Amino acid sequence: MQLTHLADFPKRNKAPIPWVDKVPDFPWDDISFSTRMLREHLNQSHNLASRRQEIQNQQISWMEDAWFKPGNVKSVLDLTCGPGLIGNELARRGYKVTGIDVSPAAIGHAISVAEAEGLDVEYSRGDIREVEYGSNYDAAIMTYGLPSSFSRAELLKLLRKVNDALAPTGLAVLEFVSIPQMKHEVGRTWHTRTEGGLFGQQPYLYLRESTFHDDAAAGCQMHYIIRMDTSEVEEYSICYQGYELAEVRQLAEINGFRSVTEFGSLEGEQFTPESDWLVAILQK
Ligand SMILES: C[S@@+](CC[C@H](N)C(=O)[O-])C[C@H]1O[C@@H](n2cnc3c(N)ncnc32)[C@H](O)[C@@H]1O
Repeated sequence: MQLTHLADFPKRNKAPIPWVDKVPDFPWDDISFSTRMLREHLNQSHNLASRRQEIQNQQISWMEDAWFKPGNVKSVLDLTCGPGLIGNELARRGYKVTGIDVSPAAIGHAISVAEAEGLDVEYSRGDIREVEYGSNYDAAIMTYGLPSSFSRAELLKLLRKVNDALAPTGLAVLEFVSIPQMKHEVGRTWHTRTEGGLFGQQPYLYLRESTFHDDAAAGCQMHYIIRMDTSEVEEYSICYQGYELAEVRQLAEINGFRSVTEFGSLEGEQFTPESDWLVAILQK
């Protein structure tokens, strides 16, 4: 049931099964939404849409020192590149970057910064499940939990596409949300935006309800936007598929990668059962 009015709110499914009761429908590709989201990406006072640039730069340095330089990486495919905060920084450091993202405003921003600085990058707008990636990249990256935001079946296909797009000795850096982080997120949170915000220019009340299904090892994040003037409700969902390390290894092997090295963060911390992130380096 898609909610339309506050009066229906108590009837909502409080524990939807990800990809069964709720499919992800966050409006990443909507022009107005993506313009507002871009502001959040660029806001350096929080890490909501993208991490702050200072943190991203540390993470880029780790990828560079630990993997790109030793692997003689020259070209990088950034899948779900957002506004190019990572891609453009990689280009400043001398890499040839290709970025793909579904958000029109994010891609527009990435391109305008790259053009202004004369960077060697190519950005295009598209859904990474659908578009072609090109070929012969030395590395591919998918950061900030994005590999977890696709269903298992989708990830399986994405890994095949990534493998096909990589050069014979290429590597992929995949940053999954860990299962413990998904469990920490379980609960409810809310805020008001009396002057509008990410979800629109008019005043609204925002409620988020996050659940985790042990059977599916997957989480569902429901976002409810309640318009203060009309009491109409919009709902958006994001789903997260959890993976144990053994399963990531299995998916990588099925898709032609010969090894997986795991870390607990994009700064190279050791992976433990409590880590918030599961960073997997897949090598062909
Ligand atoms: C949380 S942001 C992360 C951006 C960037 N990777 C980073 O680390 O800062 C998620 C990005 O994924 C993009 N995205 C989500 N689903 C996508 C899809 N199916 N295809 C392409 N881009 C997608 C969104 O538009 C958004 O820019």
